Amino acid sequence: MASGCRVGPSILNSDLAALGAECCRLLDCGADYLHLDTLRPEHHLRPPRRGEPAQAARPGALLRLGAANGSAVIYLPVLSALFCWRTRPSKDMHMMVARPEQWVKPMAVAGANQYTFHLEATDNPGALIKDIRENGMKVGLAIKPATTVEQLAPWANQIDMALVMTVEPGFGGQKFMEDMMPKVQWLRTQFPSLDIEVDGGVGPDTIHKCAEAGANMIVSGSAIMKSADPRSVINLLRNVCSEAAQKRCLDR
Ligand code: DX5
Ligand code: ZN
Repeated sequence: MASGCRVGPSILNSDLAALGAECCRLLDCGADYLHLDTLRPEHHLRPPRRGEPAQAARPGALLRLGAANGSAVIYLPVLSALFCWRTRPSKDMHMMVARPEQWVKPMAVAGANQYTFHLEATDNPGALIKDIRENGMKVGLAIKPATTVEQLAPWANQIDMALVMTVEPGFGGQKFMEDMMPKVQWLRTQFPSLDIEVDGGVGPDTIHKCAEAGANMIVSGSAIMKSADPRSVINLLRNVCSEAAQKRCLDR
């Protein structure tokens, strides 16, 4: 199935003042890849206020692209440094940005291996997929909770990975949306060799649902970062996923 079960910590909730050290620590704890959330300044999220729906919050995120006027690239040097410093494993750029077309080349130059954009953010997914490939990166296609899996399906044979968001994109520590699991299940049935990633509220309490549905790329932020033993959390997430994948193979 797909490319095996892999765990990619989201560094959104790590100690950002020590980003390099945090990435190193996660890799040393067995992370298979790094999931790097990227937002533009105008999309900054903040956690929702009491009683406010998650959608009402604005991003308060990590890797900013563009200065206030949207033209200057201010954080790409940080990315470049991070990428050069350890060339492996792969880094999945989760681009929660409008007009994702404009960041393909800068990300490729900075050393990203996978460029994951949101279907909701572009009018021309086909051209963007082509551009990402021509720039030497793998293609990830993400959908927000309100987007149906049928909207993603026409592109599934052209991408390397589908990302099913299990929270509203923007910040860590939100509640896992179990009602997204039928999307994962449907994709796994229709596209058995597709990499399927889940992102948002995934941890030891929710991994079983994701694994049973057929996800094989597991993003986890706060569950790993807040743990006193991140290595065991990463191992647990990967093991649950692998066992479910093996069971699916046997059941076939
Ligand atoms: C949220 C981001 C996630 C987030 C995950 O929109 O895309 O990658 O950091 O964090 P947790 O696992 O805490 O929900
Ligand atoms: Zn993410």
